[in-house]
Order: sequence, then C-alpha cells, then structure tokens
Amino acid sequence: MTAERVLLCGTGSVASVKIPQLALALSQHYQVKILLTKSAEHFVFNVSKSYDPTSWEQNWVQTVATNNVKHSDDPSDVNLNSVIYVDEDEWNYSNIGDPILHIELRKWADLFIVAPASANTIAKLAHGLSDNLITCVARAWDFSNPILICPAMNTLMWTHPFTQQHLNVLSGIQYQIVHPVVKTLACGDTGQGAMASVGTIVAAVGDALSQSNSGGNSNVGEEVTAAETAAATKT
Ligand SMILES: Cc1cc2nc3c(=O)[nH]c(=O)nc-3n(C[C@H](O)[C@H](O)[C@H](O)COP(=O)(O)O)c2cc1C
Repeated sequence: MTAERVLLCGTGSVASVKIPQLALALSQHYQVKILLTKSAEHFVFNVSKSYDPTSWEQNWVQTVATNNVKHSDDPSDVNLNSVIYVDEDEWNYSNIGDPILHIELRKWADLFIVAPASANTIAKLAHGLSDNLITCVARAWDFSNPILICPAMNTLMWTHPFTQQHLNVLSGIQYQIVHPVVKTLACGDTGQGAMASVGTIVAAVGDALSQSNSGGNSNVGEEVTAAETAAATKT
C-alpha cells in the first residue's frame, strides 16, 4: 500500500529550526513534501544546521526524497515534485494549461500540517488570506482531509487575545490545533508558546490520518497536547 502523503509547512517561527528533524521523523511513515514561507527559509537554511547538526549529517533533504521514492508506488513522483517548495516555485507558471502548484500540491496531499505555525500565518489563515504558497494551499484545501496547525510563538504573542480568536475560527472550520507547550523559549522568556515536541506532532498526524480513514474528524491535537508541559529547555 502507498504511504500517505503529508505536506509539512514551515512558517517564520524560530521553531522552524526543527523542520529537518520533523521531516525525517514523518518520512519514516509517510511521503513528505515541505513548503516554506520566506521567513521559514531563513530558519531552515541559515540556522537549523547549527541547532541540529545530527539531522544535517543525515542529509535530511536527500533522506526525505529517498523515503518518498521508497513509500511511493510511482517512482516518477519525486521527479515530478521537489521535496521542498518555496513561494517562487508558484511563479514558474507560464502557459495556460500548466499545472498550478498550490492546486497540484493540494491534490497530492492526504494531510496538511503547519509546523511551526507563526502568529502571522495563523492570523492569515483565520481571515482566509492567500498571499503565499502555504496560505494558497490552505485556502484551496479539501476539508475531507485533515488540516493541522502547531502554533509556536513568544508567550505574550500566544496569550494575546487575537491568538485565541483566530484559533477559535480555525477550530470552527475543522482545523486541528496541536497546542504549544511551556518552555524557556529561544527569546529567554519562560511560558507557553514552544512548539509541541516532534513525537507529539508525529502522533497527532497519525491520529488525524486514522480518524480521517475511518471517516471521523475530531480535534485530536487538543487532546494530545493538553496535558503536555515540557521541561524548561531552550527552543
Ligand atoms: C529571530 C526571529 C524569531 C521569530 N520567532 C517567531 C516565533 O517563534 N513565532 C512567531 O509567530 N513569529 C516569530 N517571528 C516573527 C515572524 O517571523 C514574522 O511575523 C514573519 O512575518 C512571519 O512570516 P510567515 O508567517 O509568513 O512565516 C520571529 C522573527 C524573528 C526575526
């Protein structure tokens, strides 16, 4: 059986330094493609190597690509589609009839997850904005498949009244929220706002796909993470 297909979307939280680790973990079970906002590109390509040398040493991009081939019935999949997509990739479009990237990615995926989800992207999703690749895929999403977000931000951004308002809107349209945990954050503040652990996120993806395959759709993420309060460690 072909492995399910996961779109892992990174946005401009410092927690994007964990994308290599998260991509490697998800690729053990699923075909994975990675979408990055402009800000996430900075954290992934300029910062995550020093944060997590182990994942870089595992050549995580190549490993995820190899796993995509291994998991896929169609070996051309990985040639047709890169492993990582950024906003510029949308604008290779040049002729009527060319595939439109955000629609093709939506058709490809069984599940969409924004991890980490910045306050900015959460606000945009809650208001239906679609001004980059990730928000376009989300805006074109087929809600018969699961869509998850893993917020990650400074504690005062997390407790800002807008955050809960936006999450309420998103929960109301079937987004599953994987709540952040309490930690000493990269900025030095201690409090809620750190992205859920890689293990929690992989479990939430598994639960969401199982629920989806069995025809259900509950807010799995809230249940998974409500009890989790991590020890005080950076990022
Ligand atoms: C060093 C640094 C760390 C940041 N960390 C976060 C964060 O953890 N969470 C967040 O919501 N925004 C954070 N921001 C702000 C976002 O990067 C900014 O709002 C950006 O516009 C988000 O764009 P995006 O949502 O398109 O990725 C950080 C910015 C910088 C410069």
